[in-house]
Amino acid sequence: MRSISPLKLKPSITRSRHLLLPFSFLLLFLLLLLYTVYNSLTSKTASLAYATSSPTLFLSLSTSANASISHDLRSLTLRPHVAGTPGAASTTSFVLSRLRSQGLPTFSRQYSPLLSFPSHSSLSLHHSNGSLIAPLSLSEPADPNAILLPPYHAYSPSGKTLAPAVYANLGREQDFQTLDGLGVRVNGCVVLVRKGGGYRGGVVARAAERGAKAVLIAGGSDGGVERGTVILGGPGDPLTPGWGAIGSVIQGSDVERLQVAAEEVRRRFPTIPSMPVAAVTAAEILRTLGGPPLPHKWKEGLVESEGGVGPGPALVNFTYSEEKRVAEIQDIFGMIRGREEPDRYIILGNHRDAWTYGAVDPHSGTATLLEIARRFGVMLQSGWRPRRTIILCSWDAEEFGMIGSTEWVEENLDNLHSKAVAYLNVDCAVQGVGFNAATTPQLDKLLIDITKKVKDPDVEGKTVYDTWLSANGGISIERLSRADSDFTGFLHHAGIPSLDMYYGNVEFAGYHTALDSFHWMETQGDPLFHRHLAIAEIWGLLAIRLADDVILPFDYQSYASQLEEHVHALRDFVDEKLSLESIHAAIKDLHSAANYAFTEGQKLELQHSSGDYATLRIRAMNDRLMLAERSFLQEEGLDGRHWFRHLLYSPPEDYESKLTFFTSIADAISRSKRYKESKKRFAICHQIWLVARAIRRASQVLRGEELFGG
Ligand SMILES: *[C@@H]1O[C@H](CO)[C@@H](O)[C@H](O)[C@H]1NC(C)=O
Ligand SMILES: *[C@@H]1O[C@H](CO)[C@@H](O)[C@H](O)[C@H]1NC(C)=O
Ligand SMILES: *[C@@H]1O[C@H](CO)[C@@H](O)[C@H](O)[C@H]1NC(C)=O
Repeated sequence: MRSISPLKLKPSITRSRHLLLPFSFLLLFLLLLLYTVYNSLTSKTASLAYATSSPTLFLSLSTSANASISHDLRSLTLRPHVAGTPGAASTTSFVLSRLRSQGLPTFSRQYSPLLSFPSHSSLSLHHSNGSLIAPLSLSEPADPNAILLPPYHAYSPSGKTLAPAVYANLGREQDFQTLDGLGVRVNGCVVLVRKGGGYRGGVVARAAERGAKAVLIAGGSDGGVERGTVILGGPGDPLTPGWGAIGSVIQGSDVERLQVAAEEVRRRFPTIPSMPVAAVTAAEILRTLGGPPLPHKWKEGLVESEGGVGPGPALVNFTYSEEKRVAEIQDIFGMIRGREEPDRYIILGNHRDAWTYGAVDPHSGTATLLEIARRFGVMLQSGWRPRRTIILCSWDAEEFGMIGSTEWVEENLDNLHSKAVAYLNVDCAVQGVGFNAATTPQLDKLLIDITKKVKDPDVEGKTVYDTWLSANGGISIERLSRADSDFTGFLHHAGIPSLDMYYGNVEFAGYHTALDSFHWMETQGDPLFHRHLAIAEIWGLLAIRLADDVILPFDYQSYASQLEEHVHALRDFVDEKLSLESIHAAIKDLHSAANYAFTEGQKLELQHSSGDYATLRIRAMNDRLMLAERSFLQEEGLDGRHWFRHLLYSPPEDYESKLTFFTSIADAISRSKRYKESKKRFAICHQIWLVARAIRRASQVLRGEELFGG
């Protein structure tokens, strides 16, 4: 954008007028001529490109798109490809070549984070005198030929344990309290749980806090064993917290790395080993347990439901050795450079690494991203260029803790801070039936509008919106306080408006197991690939609107309304004597600032083609809309967890917190349980003020110059 020049030009013309009057007429004539020629040329190309609007053009390219998605998904899922292993290379080159073949400029970025792999493990059952009862299998029944990397927990430490087992249901806080009530201590024991108690790293941490020696997490009854990371304290490479682990191991990367033994690094790993096990293996252990009988509610979902919770009397012999390795990973990008504002980014991302074949997780998303690239490729050829830049990202090492995306965000933080408009994430695009979305609230309205334009994949003649509206509970949009996919760095660290979406109301049974295969997708997940198609169209249209709209389609009125709901809900979590008035007042102010910005945006939109000065003012307006989200960041990060900086929507420190917004307040509430009354009130009160001030900052940003009297 070069709209600054006329402002600079004006005074110099005025100054030299008396000298250059005759020349000026000539110049003016020439300029006019040039302008006419230029105009006729550009309007011609413009009329070619925009004969149909870009959303319409995008939607019109759906012929046999489902076949193309299905074809890509099959290719992506031929082999296992865990990050940092040799299998990853072919998926990387597949995605790169598909992006290139659509005519998109591509680039890739290498990082070398610390990853974690299994090197040896064993499990057996013993009599209390130590003699062997039976060896137990740690392999995955659904992977009989052991084609995959064996099931394990990334970043579980090595360890050897011979100890009695205790069954702790799902391993939630309430389950350990139930055991307390039964007089059963897990101290010194191997804790056995069923999956479903929230983040697996959290389950392990709770058991470790109570002195357990190791944790075994049992999978579903379908023969699958759920792999996954147990990293603690946030995403990203443990050795380069806050900066990018740039470079290649092979070529020798020059980057500061913390020592693995450093306290800051050790805090990221559980203190006790853990392992996922098959349901049949868990049943063999359960069968040997004595002690108090299983509580009635704990029996559901168990293969074997007689017997006790333990501990013992039989002993479990569990050994695990981990190999930590600095390994190479690669993020891949496809770029569509914006015509008017190349330095404003709409970022679409999905990860590429998978624990197994990854048909759902993540390649339902990858195949969808490639479909968008295909359509954008066609549109580029027909002359389309978006107003702003669109970047398609394929992240590596998400499964280890969102490492590829986090390193990239950390490396580019300042640029993203001033230039990133929005981050649109899709991880598992399809894991079943039913549309689901989570956003920062200024994106709600845009998302809803777009679902009205996309055909429902399952009901003939309906839109995604129609079905979503008639679903249980109507339209509900989640918020993004979880830290379970690649939006984490963008939102929680960089404060960039973000969105995440998928099809599938319930977690699919094959999650992170050998059952996550093309076969499942083709026979059960999405046989006609129409759900993939719906996600591709919603995702692509979101990108087009964000990239092309003159005024950014951000709605801060819905942000204010959402915050109002939050503050009402917060009332149930804090002492009634604590005033929430400061937040109420700040939200009221945000409402009025949002109204003001909206009205101003509408006016500016009408002046859209009235010259460079209007262009500048539109740009300034859009910057306010883009930057308002950054106001919710706290520069120095949350107390004790500096990487997380979003005061409203970071993940709470307590994995089981019921309060999933106003994170700094949620943290203060859970920490202050240990405090005396007066200190407790002060700690929570302080966080309430911090949140109120952050909301005020957002209003100021939205108001722009009106703040100083117009
Ligand atoms: C250990 O205990 C089991 C069961 O009580 C018994 O069958 C076995 O003979 C014992 N072994 C030794 C070496 O004492
Ligand atoms: C436990 O397993 C390890 C590894 O397989 C083995 O070396 C050790 O002897 C076993 N302990 C007992 C008491 O059998
Ligand atoms: C694509 O959709 C059509 C119906 O619209 C269906 O007949 C076809 O089988 C689908 N293709 C694939 C690969 O699922």
